[in-house]
Amino acid sequence: MLNWDDYKKPEEVKKVQPAIQEESVQEQIVQEDKEDFMQEHVPAEAGTRAKQAKESLELLDTKEGEEELEGLSGRVQVDDKAMINCRADLNQLVPFKYDWAWQKYLDGSANHWMPQEVNMTADIALWKSNDGLTEDERMIVMRNLGFFSTADSLVANNLVLAIYRLITNPECRQYILRQSFEEAIHTHAYQYCIESLGMDEGEIFNMYREIPSVAKKASWGLKYTKEISTPGFVTGTDETDKLLLKNLIAFYCVLEGIFFYCGFTQILSMGRRNKMTGTAEQFQYILRDESMHLNFGIDMINQIKIENPHLWDEQMRQEAAQMILEGAELEIQYAKDTMPRGILGMNAGMMEEYLQFIANRRLVQIGLEQEFEGATNPFPWMSEIMDLRKEKNFFETRVIEYQTGGALTWD
Ligand SMILES: [Fe+2]
Ligand SMILES: [Fe+2]
Repeated sequence: MLNWDDYKKPEEVKKVQPAIQEESVQEQIVQEDKEDFMQEHVPAEAGTRAKQAKESLELLDTKEGEEELEGLSGRVQVDDKAMINCRADLNQLVPFKYDWAWQKYLDGSANHWMPQEVNMTADIALWKSNDGLTEDERMIVMRNLGFFSTADSLVANNLVLAIYRLITNPECRQYILRQSFEEAIHTHAYQYCIESLGMDEGEIFNMYREIPSVAKKASWGLKYTKEISTPGFVTGTDETDKLLLKNLIAFYCVLEGIFFYCGFTQILSMGRRNKMTGTAEQFQYILRDESMHLNFGIDMINQIKIENPHLWDEQMRQEAAQMILEGAELEIQYAKDTMPRGILGMNAGMMEEYLQFIANRRLVQIGLEQEFEGATNPFPWMSEIMDLRKEKNFFETRVIEYQTGGALTWD
């Protein structure tokens, strides 16, 4: 907790005896206040710009602002709130309607971390040594830093430029603001790895344009941002509401819910083998944030469906399933591209099954039938790292367990 004494100049603080420091400082402040009051203060002569500012405020018409607030029908009641197309005052956070969103905001904030806290010394030595890593392992590190360094920017831009203004309740907006900052930290973390390892930054940051399996994933996501981020885009018709819903499915279920999984598994597998442990630790912190982003998105999608059941018609359900399956296919292609041979105790076939397992899970989480009958998880240690208990979303259980702060451990 901050102490007012911290704001005193050091020499002033020095004068007081430690035992009675607090009291003396208080007395000193009271005395200063008295002296201040007795003194006559003559404000300086206002210059032209200050006069103009004063005149401008005298002419300010507050009616427009007042009318807008009155149009929002005064104090907000819980029933006035809605996920989309809400007309209640969005400046009033309480009363809470969507407790799950507020809880995630609190949990996310309790998990704060920064990339510089992770020790990268061992990674730098390993990366610079000639025989520490195989060529295939080096490619995996580079491709994943290439994809993720721009993917998190795509997610952040989608949040700020597309989703934020269209989600019309302050609890969700509060979490979206928190998530946006976490995405900035993730981009920072990748940049920190790239810089620490002394990689060619131009090559890495341009992979999302130059390497086909990376570029396809990025452009697949960008299409959905483009549809709803133009300044003139508003929701309120079935067609536009569905476009927003599709954007949420694209970003939360596919980008954050599928496109991150091959790369995360590869890098975390390295960490388990005591290779690139700093990079793997950065990814582990990111994965912890991402599993909450995903769950928040799924809660938002399901809540919008509950409030607007007409949007979730047969055509929309088919499109949603197709989007998730397209995402899984793109990620399978990425797995084949980054793992031409077996590596780190895994191969492209195992990753394909894992992605089928993940795609099934995403389908079921938004109320659709699973697609890949019998697909199992070949990497149970991934679930342990993520702790599947916290992957449960509001609609699966109301008990949200989450580890706050604390060190990460390898199983
Ligand atoms: Fe992220
Ligand atoms: Fe995210």
